[in-house]
Amino acid sequence: MKKKIFLVSTAAALFLVACGINSGISSEQIGLRKASLENENKVVLADINYSAAQPGEASVYDRSYENAPPLIPHSTEDLLPITKDNNSCLSCHDKAIATDVGATPIPPTHYYDFRHNKSMGDVISDTRFNCTQCHVPQSDAKPIVGNTFKADFTNKDLLKKSNLIDVINEGVK
Ligand code: HEC
Ligand code: HEC
Repeated sequence: MKKKIFLVSTAAALFLVACGINSGISSEQIGLRKASLENENKVVLADINYSAAQPGEASVYDRSYENAPPLIPHSTEDLLPITKDNNSCLSCHDKAIATDVGATPIPPTHYYDFRHNKSMGDVISDTRFNCTQCHVPQSDAKPIVGNTFKADFTNKDLLKKSNLIDVINEGVK
């Protein structure tokens, strides 16, 4: 009996392998960038550009959904990388400075330690130090896969700002 099961499953496996070989799908056709999966020699990088507008010259994007991390509308050239000793983002977005330089101030959620449930005062939480972990610039690349997602906003103001600190416990008992 065991032998029979073995034979049947071996035949099924061989059949599947044969189908794979005959389907004619090459590894170039599988990935979105249409290049071999075995080596990257023929990968052609898309010719894309990021915003060249300097901070102060860009227009902010609508939020992708309510309380989404806003996208970075200005150039990040010369501002990255963020290191332990140098975070240039803070030099404009720190809540004590931002309004004076026309930048959106870092919101209260980033000055709050959610693990110990206490405010950090004027010091940004370590969990928010690496801005570009959540905030990203946008390029003019054409989407490879379409997206029909449409965000619902409870109020129109939230297209341009967040209120997460006020609603973070909504629905939590
Ligand atoms: C020289 C000042 C300056 C620096 C440095 C700077 N920003 Fe900005 N940022 C601005 C200004 C001003 C705006 C508003 C858009 C504009 O006027 O270009 C802005 C807009 C933004 C926004 C959009 C905010 C919104 O309300 O939609 C994000 C996100 C952002 N910056 C993130 C960053 C990050 C991350 C860094 C560090 C890599 C950084 N910024 C460095 C000045 C600055
Ligand atoms: C762990 C993810 C994360 C990190 C790291 C992070 N942010 Fe955010 N940020 C968010 C999210 C989510 C929001 C929207 C909800 C909120 O206000 O907290 C936001 C909102 C903002 C806003 C919009 C505030 C408003 O009132 O509309 C600014 C400006 C901003 N962040 C700047 C920064 C800067 C500068 C840094 C780095 C010093 C940073 N963020 C680090 C996730 C992050």
